[in-house]
Amino acid sequence: MPFIVCKFAIKIYSDEIIVSFVNIVIETPELFNSKWIFVPLRLMPNKIQFTTSPHFAREMDDGDVLNKYRSYFHIPKIKGKAAVYLCGNSLGLQPKKAKEYINQELSDWAQYGVEGHFEAKMPWFSYHHFFTKSLAKIVGAKATEVVAMNTLTVNLQLLMLTFYKPTAKRFKIILEAGAFPSDMYAVETLVKHFGLKPKDAIVEIAPRKGEYIIRHEDILAAITANKSSLAMLMMGGVNYYTGQLFDMKAITTAAQKVGAKVGFDLAHAVGNVPLELNKWNVDFACWCSYKYLNSGPGAVGGVFIHEKHATNKKLNRLAGWWGHNEKTRFKMEKGFDPMPNAQAWQMSNAPVMNMVSHRASLDIFDEVSMKMLREKSELLTGYALFLLGEIKHLQFEIITPTPFEQRGCQISMLFKNRGKEVFTQLQKNGVIADWREPNVIRIAPVPLYNSFQDILDLFDILSNMK
Ligand SMILES: Cc1ncc(COP(=O)(O)O)c(C=O)c1O
Repeated sequence: MPFIVCKFAIKIYSDEIIVSFVNIVIETPELFNSKWIFVPLRLMPNKIQFTTSPHFAREMDDGDVLNKYRSYFHIPKIKGKAAVYLCGNSLGLQPKKAKEYINQELSDWAQYGVEGHFEAKMPWFSYHHFFTKSLAKIVGAKATEVVAMNTLTVNLQLLMLTFYKPTAKRFKIILEAGAFPSDMYAVETLVKHFGLKPKDAIVEIAPRKGEYIIRHEDILAAITANKSSLAMLMMGGVNYYTGQLFDMKAITTAAQKVGAKVGFDLAHAVGNVPLELNKWNVDFACWCSYKYLNSGPGAVGGVFIHEKHATNKKLNRLAGWWGHNEKTRFKMEKGFDPMPNAQAWQMSNAPVMNMVSHRASLDIFDEVSMKMLREKSELLTGYALFLLGEIKHLQFEIITPTPFEQRGCQISMLFKNRGKEVFTQLQKNGVIADWREPNVIRIAPVPLYNSFQDILDLFDILSNMK
């Protein structure tokens, strides 16, 4: 006879035991005996003993409190079979709800025409408001400090224009070497816009010779070395190529101490690693929503402007009507009166169709915490690193830092040879990963929708390659 079983996750730390409710399931007596208590105990990151056994992945998936969220997403199919999708660092998967939300807007548009600005189920006039609470939670900000708008590079340029005020003495910008090309071009053209030469104004911090990771002490040293000429530091929160997570708090403190403004491109950090932008006192940040925020190709970006700046109506910015005081916006009068918050940086009315999937995705983020995601991420990536370490016949090196505090979901494998061939084989065997010239395969197990079985499948495919 089947039993009704309440499942609890029990976590034992050195100083406390946390018991949390997971779900109620109907089990047969055999499963009941083998799974309960034993499986949840597997969820202890520090105590886990990874193994190559196929049972291990199954047990981990069974005990995973985030397991149900996989079914909230469409998993792409290859040859009729669910792909092993490890490319969330590039484009996150489609939340199933996205279609319903998009259809709702299409039907409101059909039904109301222009009246949809106020009559739609989610009125378009206020559409940008629907994101602030969720985004604030994800990036560690106040709701007044964030807004969903534009796209990433556009936002980066707009925010840098607000915060970069070069003078004859203070005009340099620190950037990480090997930053994403769009960031390099943005900074290069920004300094040229002010009549400066990139070689004089841009300071790039590179890994040391023979190393792949930028040392934290080298970032601090560059800040000190340029202390009287540094106007701004702008870098990725997580580097797109190596997956290195920077100590944004310490970097912000150090750069602000010498009088510079600090901004981060969080494309690879948002929805991936915990952020506390307000507490860290970051001046500004921006991100895209199509990677770990699963909002679809080219979906709307987001910005953070610290309240100490966002409330300052006198601060210079390039403006448009949607940043104007909401109460008087439709008086259409002369004289820009900015909103006393991050919304003042909006220029245009909300591109609703490009924001709908973002809402479908953030609804899921509302249900989970970054802490829960991070806990599973540690297990998933720990498991991946363990299994990759067992592969001896392929010549690659992991260039992502191994300590968990220095990385997020992404693992970058630098191949000494056969990299492209391995990548092609992975594709043929149903793995969607990401290739970066000249010789790197990036994978990103994402805690919202990747399973431990995905990692085991990757391992099996790599192990079976000749
Ligand atoms: C770190 C980083 N910066 C900038 C961009 C460019 O983003 P967008 O094309 O949305 O401006 C990307 C795109 O992947 C990125 O990864």
